[in-house]
Amino acid sequence: MPYGSNTDTALNKTVTIKTLQKLKDQREKFVMVALYDAPMAGMAEKCGVETVLIGDSLGMTVLGYQSTIPVTMEQMTYHVEAVARGNRKSLIIADLPFMTYATLEDALKNSARLMQAGAQMIKIEGGRWLEDTVRRLSECGIPVCAHLGLTPQSVNKFGGFRVQGRSPEQAEEIAEDAGILSEAGADLLVLECVPSELAARITREIPIPTVGIGAGRDTDAQVLVINDILGLTEQPPKFSKNFLTEAGDIPGALKKYVADVKAGEFPSDDHIFL
Ligand code: KIV
Repeated sequence: MPYGSNTDTALNKTVTIKTLQKLKDQREKFVMVALYDAPMAGMAEKCGVETVLIGDSLGMTVLGYQSTIPVTMEQMTYHVEAVARGNRKSLIIADLPFMTYATLEDALKNSARLMQAGAQMIKIEGGRWLEDTVRRLSECGIPVCAHLGLTPQSVNKFGGFRVQGRSPEQAEEIAEDAGILSEAGADLLVLECVPSELAARITREIPIPTVGIGAGRDTDAQVLVINDILGLTEQPPKFSKNFLTEAGDIPGALKKYVADVKAGEFPSDDHIFL
């Protein structure tokens, strides 16, 4: 049976921010996949993936850079257009790349560009310094996904890809940032590489859905990069899982990822930080 004909998992309705909020309120888990092209975007929709992210991880997964820092607006726009052509039902989220939202004016101009390319929400990395940016984007009708914890655009400031929020002070700061950005109008929050307990606390404390990656089992949703799901990463991070080996084919791997997240079976203890 071709993957497109399996109606058990295919999304049969267009996903909006209202859908995601309802899933949180009903305590039903949902998934996000970071991916970059039209065929994979189409397959994700047919395998029940509620949200797709054109992540600036594309710098590392597709373009061969060592970090996300070199990624440009041109590269992001090109991949957003491709994903939007391939997927009509999942909610499409796009990263604003490094230094393209450092001023309010840049954030507005560059968000508009990604929305016009086909994104339905933009994602920005950082804490309370983005409060006004989140508020203004929201006022302009642009849904915002905030991103806290290990924010890869700040890798040089962190001194490497390290778990964030392990000290009580840092945990408190991240939790406060989550509250501030949620109140400013963010619609979604990605928490990357933080201790499970901190992600669970934030998920309880803020009204908007949280999406974890290396953030334990208690977030409202999980996100993985397609390269990790398909075993294409040479040195996969602890929080990721290759679903392809067991599933045998790409649609099977995506469906297994969706099913395991919804059943609370992924992430397991092997994929979380304490
Ligand atoms: O760029 C990306 O793919 C991301 C996810 C890993 C959350 O930010």
